[in-house]
Amino acid sequence: MEKRESFKSSFGLFAAAVGSAVGLGNIWRFPYITGMNGGAAFILVYLICVAIIGLPVLLSEFIIGREGKSNPIDSFKNLMPKGKWYISGILGVMAAFLILSFYSVIAGWTLEYMIKAIGNQFAGKDVNQIDAMFGDFISNPIRPIFWQFIILSLTCYIVASGVEKGIEKYSSLLVPALIVIIIILDIRALTLPGASEGLSFLFKPDFSKVNGKVILDALGHSFFSLSLGAGTMITYGSYIKNNERLGSSALNIAIADTLIAILAGIAIFPVVFAFGIEPDNGPGLVFITLPNVFPKIPGGYIFGILFFLLLALAALTSTISMLEVVVAFGVDRFKASRERVAIISTILIFIVGIFASLSQGVLGHISFLGTDFLDFLDKLTANYFMTAGSLITILFVGWKLDRKITDRQLTNEGMLDIGYVDTFYFVAKYISPIAIILVFLASVGII
Ligand code: PFF
Repeated sequence: MEKRESFKSSFGLFAAAVGSAVGLGNIWRFPYITGMNGGAAFILVYLICVAIIGLPVLLSEFIIGREGKSNPIDSFKNLMPKGKWYISGILGVMAAFLILSFYSVIAGWTLEYMIKAIGNQFAGKDVNQIDAMFGDFISNPIRPIFWQFIILSLTCYIVASGVEKGIEKYSSLLVPALIVIIIILDIRALTLPGASEGLSFLFKPDFSKVNGKVILDALGHSFFSLSLGAGTMITYGSYIKNNERLGSSALNIAIADTLIAILAGIAIFPVVFAFGIEPDNGPGLVFITLPNVFPKIPGGYIFGILFFLLLALAALTSTISMLEVVVAFGVDRFKASRERVAIISTILIFIVGIFASLSQGVLGHISFLGTDFLDFLDKLTANYFMTAGSLITILFVGWKLDRKITDRQLTNEGMLDIGYVDTFYFVAKYISPIAIILVFLASVGII
């Protein structure tokens, strides 16, 4: 059997996984759902969700990947030839495919906005004009598709270049770059007059805002943000070398992902508050509110460009991980070359993605369960595929997988002395599945 590719260094593994986790979810979605759900109280609930659900699922995906040594579907099959546990892998591959088809649309928007920022197109416009500019752009039948094509082509190129020479290499460059950019933006935001109001919104919890919906949003977002239930971390897990520590890797990744989301909030809220704008503008926070205020702050021209560059880089390291799930599956299944599978998968994803893009304009009248196609794909994957995939994954590790295998994976064949194995089991067996089921039932409206 051909030797499976692997991440060469610990940093490469960290960068690739953080690259997957850190994306539009952190820099676009996290700040706006925090804004809509009352700030700090939401963040606190989110942290709890990451700790008791996100982290155990992430670790479980790594265990399944490194032990199963294959794409998400075959990893499950290798570990449990009988039974239907591999359905979780099928859901993961489908989720990765579908998420990429709409995520690449929004990733494309960030490129357009970077170019707009370079062309200084936000200057001298009021918020209504910027709002109209956004509407005109996303409903345009050509431009967003052009940018989507660019994002998908870059993604395809990197994935086709291989695990070490593509994913690891580019993630190791892009992830540090995005951390540097975010810190520069934070310094700018924190030195604005009135920054403290934005900060207290982020860090002073108001528990009267916490209700069922807030908890639901926090949980759903923790899956999305850590790229769980989409096969990504199983696929990346299959490239982790035997001497890496799965537990501390998973912990570091979850911490980095959360920190970067909070740093994104620090870059955004002081700016928003400094101009007395309400932070609850929803998805428009990044594409309407910020372009409105950037021209008004000192150095805003440069910071605007950097901000959209940050979004684009963050999106790219995530799209890579989604395509890799589909490609890893295709290569194993069809025994075809990585390049070939990457190109064919990208074309198929692009075709679905074109409809997602057009659903913001000319095809906007076609409704899927009461919403447009892009939004439908988002809800379908986040509420159903990722949740169900994560649930099956944690149930599998908690109840089905031979405990010896899990122990071996966590302790690197007994080489590591770790104290959290029993806690992990308890959480994986009871806490995480119950929490996921509750959230799932609530999200489909049963409770
Ligand atoms: N974690 C990414 C983000 O926060 O933007 C989104 C994502 C990446 C979801 C990869 C699913 C996935 F497989």
